[in-house]
Amino acid sequence: MAKTRQAWGTRFGVIMAVAGSAIGLGNFLRFPVQAASNGGGAFMIPYFISLFLLGIPLMWIEWTLGRYGGGFGHGTAPGIFHTMWEKNRFIKYFGVIGIFGPLVILIYYTYIESWTLAYSWFAITGKYASAATESSMKSFLSGFQGLEKNSYFSNLIPAYTFFVITFLANMAVIYYGIKGGIEKLCKIAMPLLFICGIIVMARVLTLGTPDPARSSWNTVNGLGFLWNPDFSALKSAKVWLAAAGQIFFTLSVGIGVILTYASYLSKGDDVVLSGLSAVSTNEFAEVIIGGSIVIPAAFIFFGPAGTEAIAKGGAFNLGFVTMPLIFGKVLHGAFFGSTWFLLLFLAGITSSVSLAQPAVAFMEDEFNISRKKAVSILGAAFFVLCQPAIFFLGKGVVNELDFWGGTFCLVLFATVETIIFAWVFGVERAWKEIHHGADMAIPKIYKFIIKYVTPLFLLLILGAWAYQEWWSTILMKNVPVSDRPFVLGTRFALIALFIILSILVKVAWRKKRRPVKA
Ligand code: ALA
Repeated sequence: MAKTRQAWGTRFGVIMAVAGSAIGLGNFLRFPVQAASNGGGAFMIPYFISLFLLGIPLMWIEWTLGRYGGGFGHGTAPGIFHTMWEKNRFIKYFGVIGIFGPLVILIYYTYIESWTLAYSWFAITGKYASAATESSMKSFLSGFQGLEKNSYFSNLIPAYTFFVITFLANMAVIYYGIKGGIEKLCKIAMPLLFICGIIVMARVLTLGTPDPARSSWNTVNGLGFLWNPDFSALKSAKVWLAAAGQIFFTLSVGIGVILTYASYLSKGDDVVLSGLSAVSTNEFAEVIIGGSIVIPAAFIFFGPAGTEAIAKGGAFNLGFVTMPLIFGKVLHGAFFGSTWFLLLFLAGITSSVSLAQPAVAFMEDEFNISRKKAVSILGAAFFVLCQPAIFFLGKGVVNELDFWGGTFCLVLFATVETIIFAWVFGVERAWKEIHHGADMAIPKIYKFIIKYVTPLFLLLILGAWAYQEWWSTILMKNVPVSDRPFVLGTRFALIALFIILSILVKVAWRKKRRPVKA
């Protein structure tokens, strides 16, 4: 007999959990890098257009799909897609992306999350204080990551220790379940995250110009760098792709995790206002707090060209090299540095638990096994899968996982779910379903957007990517020759993982069809 599914305790709890999933390293590291390397103000126009035409509709679609599927005992995409399109025998295999994608992101995300915990500790204990130049701070990071042996680190043991702590913390939260683990964590961690964010933001915004000869390198111009609109950006396909990609990543839509969280709602629970609240909370954290920390800070110390150059060095460079250097120059830098990394850790863990939940929900719902057993199976698999990301970090493995799990699958999955929702399930039924129990009505224009604009926009992104990048990606044209065996190995492992998950779906459905013996 099927078990009763878990449920959220309070509405505040579920909104905090979805916002927690959305607010992550993407808000504070990925966003500033995307904005700065796509011309600052140039980025924000496509960003907001993508938010209104992709992000918000997808958030509503995923909350509704999840709640609908949960009513049939399904918390992951294979089951949810199947209930919406029963006649199609293959659609459940598309749903596999909704378990595969989160797992792939989880593998590298947890490792990076563990660095934030480590750096918070290093900030308090003054371990990186002696690295006062950009090159020494880079060496500190490389030594920690095991990419080189140097005077700071001679082995990977510290990084591995922090990884194990982070891994166990994630598993413990999942073990205690939706209400006792995830909801409890997010109800505490989210307010704390905002407190940390506001402290760091206030410190950055009150920084004076360190060099009087360069008085234009100030906070106001730092904010202007991000906010002065540049309409010519609307002509660049690259900026559109980057902006749309950021919206997916930051809102955690197209991954599969929101479906799972929403599946623990009950039929009469509102999804419209709750979804919008989660989006608004995320945007506040990203645009207001995320936009007011690293870019203005980098601008004050390194100027406009320096900020662009740092951003080109990537998110890790900005978060783990530039920020500690800047905090090294301000009064009580150890406190602000550890608060910055604690902020990242809280943002990270409230996202990583959401990435782990679909796999657990899949085992619980479709194989009817207990949560504890499901968590143990996931834990074992997850631990093994993380190892290549740790030991082959410098070999392109993380980039490869991020591309397939954190970029490509998101757009593909979002396209499939939008088409199922608006075209197979039908936009009229979909509209009714969204509004079931709703605390506010969605403006009518969104019916048109969900039916035509969102899917077209998604197909356009997929098409543009396929046209511009497909062959060079497949042929690893941008991968250094020495990394290619590792990247190829990662690809084979990913294909194997996808096949295993598809077989599990097949087995689960075959079991369901088998008549129960009297
Ligand atoms: N949405 C999460 C982030 O922004 C994954 O990091």
